[in-house]
Amino acid sequence: MGLIRSVVLLQVMIFLNVTLTENASTPAMAKPGCRSRCGDVIIPYPFGTGGDCNITEEFFITCSADFIPNKPFLTNSNIQVLDISLDGQLRILGNASYDCYNTSGHREWFYPWLRFSEFSINSNKNKFTAIGCDTYARVEGFHGQRYTTGCLSLCNNIADVSNGSCSGIGCCQTSIPKGVRSYNITLDSYDNHVDVLPENPCSYAFVAENDNYTFSSSDIRGFGFRDRKFPVTLDWKIGTSSCNEAKMDTMNFGCKENSDCFDSENNSGYFCKCFQGYEGNPYLSDGCQDMNECETISPCNGTATCINLPGTYNCSCPVGYEGDGRKIGTGCSLPDKDQSKRSPLIDVALGTSIGLLGLLLGMVLLYWMLRRKQISKLRQEYFQQNGGILLREQLSRRQGYREDVKVFTAEELEKATNNYHESRILGHGVQGTVYKGILADNRVVAIKKSIIGDPSQVEQFINEIMVLYQINHRNVVKLLGCCLETQVPLLVYEYITNGTLFHHLHNDDDTPHLPWEARLRIATETAEALSYLHSAASVPIIHRDIKLANILLDDNYIAKVSDFGASRLIPSDEAQITTIVQGTFGYLDPEYMLTSLLTEKSDVYSFGVVLIELLTGQKAVCFKRSEEKRVLAMHFVSSMKEDRLLDILDHLVLNDENVEQLKEVASLARRCVRVKGEERPTMKEVAHELAGLQAMPKHPWSKSKLMGEETEYLLGDLNRTYEDGATSSWIGYDSINNKITFELDSAR
Ligand SMILES: *[C@@H]1O[C@H](CO)[C@@H](O)[C@H](O)[C@H]1NC(C)=O
Ligand SMILES: *[C@@H]1O[C@H](CO)[C@@H](O)[C@H](O)[C@H]1NC(C)=O
Ligand SMILES: *[C@@H]1O[C@H](CO)[C@@H](O)[C@H](O)[C@H]1NC(C)=O
Ligand SMILES: *[C@@H]1O[C@H](CO)[C@@H](O)[C@H](O)[C@H]1NC(C)=O
Ligand SMILES: *[C@@H]1O[C@H](CO)[C@@H](O)[C@H](O)[C@H]1NC(C)=O
Ligand SMILES: *[C@@H]1O[C@H](CO)[C@@H](O)[C@H](O)[C@H]1NC(C)=O
Ligand SMILES: *[C@@H]1O[C@H](CO)[C@@H](O)[C@H](O)[C@H]1NC(C)=O
Ligand SMILES: *[C@@H]1O[C@H](CO)[C@@H](O)[C@H](O)[C@H]1NC(C)=O
Ligand SMILES: *[C@@H]1O[C@H](CO)[C@@H](O)[C@H](O)[C@H]1NC(C)=O
Ligand SMILES: *[C@@H]1O[C@H](CO)[C@@H](O)[C@H](O)[C@H]1NC(C)=O
Repeated sequence: MGLIRSVVLLQVMIFLNVTLTENASTPAMAKPGCRSRCGDVIIPYPFGTGGDCNITEEFFITCSADFIPNKPFLTNSNIQVLDISLDGQLRILGNASYDCYNTSGHREWFYPWLRFSEFSINSNKNKFTAIGCDTYARVEGFHGQRYTTGCLSLCNNIADVSNGSCSGIGCCQTSIPKGVRSYNITLDSYDNHVDVLPENPCSYAFVAENDNYTFSSSDIRGFGFRDRKFPVTLDWKIGTSSCNEAKMDTMNFGCKENSDCFDSENNSGYFCKCFQGYEGNPYLSDGCQDMNECETISPCNGTATCINLPGTYNCSCPVGYEGDGRKIGTGCSLPDKDQSKRSPLIDVALGTSIGLLGLLLGMVLLYWMLRRKQISKLRQEYFQQNGGILLREQLSRRQGYREDVKVFTAEELEKATNNYHESRILGHGVQGTVYKGILADNRVVAIKKSIIGDPSQVEQFINEIMVLYQINHRNVVKLLGCCLETQVPLLVYEYITNGTLFHHLHNDDDTPHLPWEARLRIATETAEALSYLHSAASVPIIHRDIKLANILLDDNYIAKVSDFGASRLIPSDEAQITTIVQGTFGYLDPEYMLTSLLTEKSDVYSFGVVLIELLTGQKAVCFKRSEEKRVLAMHFVSSMKEDRLLDILDHLVLNDENVEQLKEVASLARRCVRVKGEERPTMKEVAHELAGLQAMPKHPWSKSKLMGEETEYLLGDLNRTYEDGATSSWIGYDSINNKITFELDSAR
């Protein structure tokens, strides 16, 4: 009975121990519902014990119950794990190799090896050591290519060796190359240890952490070395792509909120770290949690109150005190109060100067008020001239607008753009200049300023405001507000950080190339935004200028459709309206060009061209291509007709696995660029089809239906003369005074 009771007691104690060390205040390390420790070792996600607990198979940990406390092993191997750190390191136990002889020349040896597919041996923290007096040790393996290194250790007499020194007498050491993912150790002798027996029967060699092994002359005899294991530090990282590439795959990106992504060496894989002031596991959602600095490091000077803030803290001085309340700061002190010791003379002088100062101040104030009145009158004029009245009217007539759109003052925006400083220019468009602005609350915004002195621009600006006022879609750039009291009206948008899709697809020198999955996702998002504009918004909206340059990408490569200057609201009782033809050459619907009848199908055509660009990696119009290939849409359709689709697809993304998917998208693109609008699918159908394709990646599709469709092609007689100039865009006017933008590739 006594035995049973003590076992129960022991279990209770173990239980208590566990609950005490895993209390609620420490942020979770493993995924919810997953085992967070094995024996003494904490197992943070991405490592885990199976199922969804580990991010991939390489991060699988077997927790063996054959030991008390339990011991973790890497994957299904018998490599024991000592410690896993979220700084990207992992400690394991490695074997020592030996090579032993006895006087009759009998030899016994053991050559261990290790091989990892994802992890590498940390070259700074580990060393290769060999011990022996007739010893030639080699370590070889693989890091992209083969490497071999090793060292030689000799001695005639045990008295020659000195403790702690591994310079080749009795012990030698060498470092391991960077990025090594495998090693095996081999040992050799020159003379089968004949001359050094019986003192030194064996050679030993092992990889171990730098400070773990110190050579001692008694080790020459080698007692206990055969079963000795040494800790080795490995580096781990997620995947094989760089941060930028990995971010595009939003679903599977490893770094969660409040964390930064870092490239590991050679951009092969990445790791994550919580922002400064946060702690926890950056690979888990909600993993990085705000550190309560006030409790952990008590950073404030005794009299100051510490307030914990997200990512930081604030030390505020008590009422009546001033100064920097941090310990490293000046501390809190009472403000200077030595006025009590003033002489009356100083008082008089002070009084007089204060009086004079007041007078001066009054005059300045008066001037300032007059000036303000003048300015505000001017602003009122501008407001009228800029269609502020029109806008107000329009707004009052319609319902269902977003209420968070703000009217900014001219000063706010001047301040935000550093008085429209050149360095803040993000780009020039047909309609005006876009500046980067930083608002008083530190929000970064993009500010569009139209070209001065063109009244038709004003109308377009009002138009864009009207369109964007009613849209709230994750793939449409968000209008934050506008300002009408300057000479030219200004629009304020959310700032999209990552540039245009055009830049990412065509400026391949300084951007990583867009993988096919990202292209397909961006296309799907754009299609969804357009489908929303065409059908879901309260009044259908036709964008009229869909092109790569108008699709922006944010930090996570999420598409944001922008530039609604040319868009039209279609009142629901009219299926189509007649307008001046407007758009970008190469993306422009041929039917619309001929008839001037604007329908939703014009956007479908332009979107088709975007799809073709994504499929082929080529520009919509390129004057460097031969004449019949200049207009990409025509070139693409004729290639498909001649069954040469594979020649024209972008070889940077095409592979065996996605060829069927690309073919499906190609056939969809071809339907989008049909000459007759009514034969094109609707944007809703396109979005639906793309979403379907995206949801089932690399599915071996039923045979694709690419061939056997008749094609007609007529992109009009556009017999203009173009110059292969270095300008990137200009506006051309054709005979019926239509407005068409041309985008030319700049000559390189
Ligand atoms: C959590 O555990 C730590 C140490 O294990 C201890 O210092 C701390 O007081 C504990 N907190 C709570 C809320 O139990
Ligand atoms: C975790 O590892 C196990 C064992 O290798 C594997 O079956 C499982 O698929 C892994 N989990 C993930 C999400 O890859
Ligand atoms: C060490 O040697 C043992 C016995 O041969 C083997 O089972 C184990 O996998 C080895 N461990 C490592 C880390 O090489
Ligand atoms: C050497 O080792 C072998 C195998 O263990 C053994 O048979 C032999 O007797 C040993 N020789 C000496 C001299 O100890
Ligand atoms: C080296 O250290 C060992 C004990 O660690 C000691 O027995 C031996 O005498 C030392 N040798 C020398 C040369 O100092
Ligand atoms: C990185 O690349 C360079 C050159 O391509 C190579 O020499 C180096 O060993 C690589 N480093 C790693 C850690 O793979
Ligand atoms: C050690 O690795 C090298 C290169 O991978 C290989 O050629 C050699 O056969 C290996 N040696 C042993 C004993 O496994
Ligand atoms: C070396 O590592 C082993 C295994 O972790 C440990 O038992 C031993 O105490 C370490 N020795 C030194 C000197 O750090
Ligand atoms: C921190 O406190 C100072 C005054 O002590 C205040 O001016 C500042 O705005 C505070 N910062 C934040 C982020 O609250
Ligand atoms: C607080 O700041 C004052 C002024 O610098 C200093 O004299 C005092 O020692 C500080 N107190 C603490 C607790 O650091």
